[in-house]
Amino acid sequence: MAGNWKMYKTAAETAAFFEKFNPLIERSGHCEIVICPPFPFLSDAVAATRGTHVMIGAQNLCWAKEGAFTGEVCGPMIRSAGCSHVIIGHSERRQYFGETNEIVLKKTMAALDVGLTPIVCVGETLEHREAGQTEAVILDHCQGATSGLTPEQFAQILIAYEPVWAIGTGKTATPEIAADAHRVIRAHARQAFGKEAGDRLRILYGGSVKPDNIKKLMAQPEIDGALVGGASLDPISFASIVNF
Ligand code: PGA
Repeated sequence: MAGNWKMYKTAAETAAFFEKFNPLIERSGHCEIVICPPFPFLSDAVAATRGTHVMIGAQNLCWAKEGAFTGEVCGPMIRSAGCSHVIIGHSERRQYFGETNEIVLKKTMAALDVGLTPIVCVGETLEHREAGQTEAVILDHCQGATSGLTPEQFAQILIAYEPVWAIGTGKTATPEIAADAHRVIRAHARQAFGKEAGDRLRILYGGSVKPDNIKKLMAQPEIDGALVGGASLDPISFASIVNF
C-alpha cells in the first residue's frame, strides 16, 4: 500500500502524521507500506518511521546521477536520505511537466541503478477511454517505461495503474474496470519478460482509493495493492486502507 502525498504537508504536519499513523499500523505485517512525502521531508519521514515496517519513497527523481541541473533531485540523494522507493511517470508529471515515455524509462533506469524500487505509473485519460483507446494507451505506457529493461531489472519494479479520470475526482474505477486493465498490464509483462516475471509483477491500482472502497478493489485477484493520494494524507484513513 503506497501513499502519495503530492505537494501537501509541512514539516510539522509530517511529524504529526507519523505520530498518529505508526501505532495504527503496528499489526499490519500482512503488507508492505510505502509513504511518499515531498522531497524536503524525506529524511524526517525516514527518521519518524525508524523501527516500524513503513518504507519511505520520493515522488520523482532526475534521470541524471549528479550534475548542473538546478532544482533537480537525483537517485543517489534520495537513496542517501534513506528512501527505498520512488514514484515515476505519475500522470501529473506527464500532464504538467511534460514527461514522456522516454523520460519515464530514463528515470526508471536511474532508480534501478541506485537500488530504488520504481513505482511506474500508467493510465489513460477520459478522452482515451471514450475513444476506445484504453488498452492501446496502457500498452504504450508499459512498453515505453520498460523496454530495454532486463528481466532481472523488470522484476524489481512495481506498476501502478492509475486512470487519469479517477485521480482526485472521487470517481474510482469499478473493481472490474481496474482488474481488466491489470490483466492487460500482466499479459504484456508475461509476453515481454517471460511468464515468471509477469506472474510475479505487483500491480497497484490508484485513483480515488478510499477506506470505503478498498475492500472491493482488493477482492479482485488482479489487484495487488493501491497507490493512494488524497486518502493517504490523513493517518486514520490511510491506516484503515492498510488494515482493510
Ligand atoms: P487520489 O490520487 O487517490 O487522490 O485519486 C491517486 C494518485 O494520484 O496517486
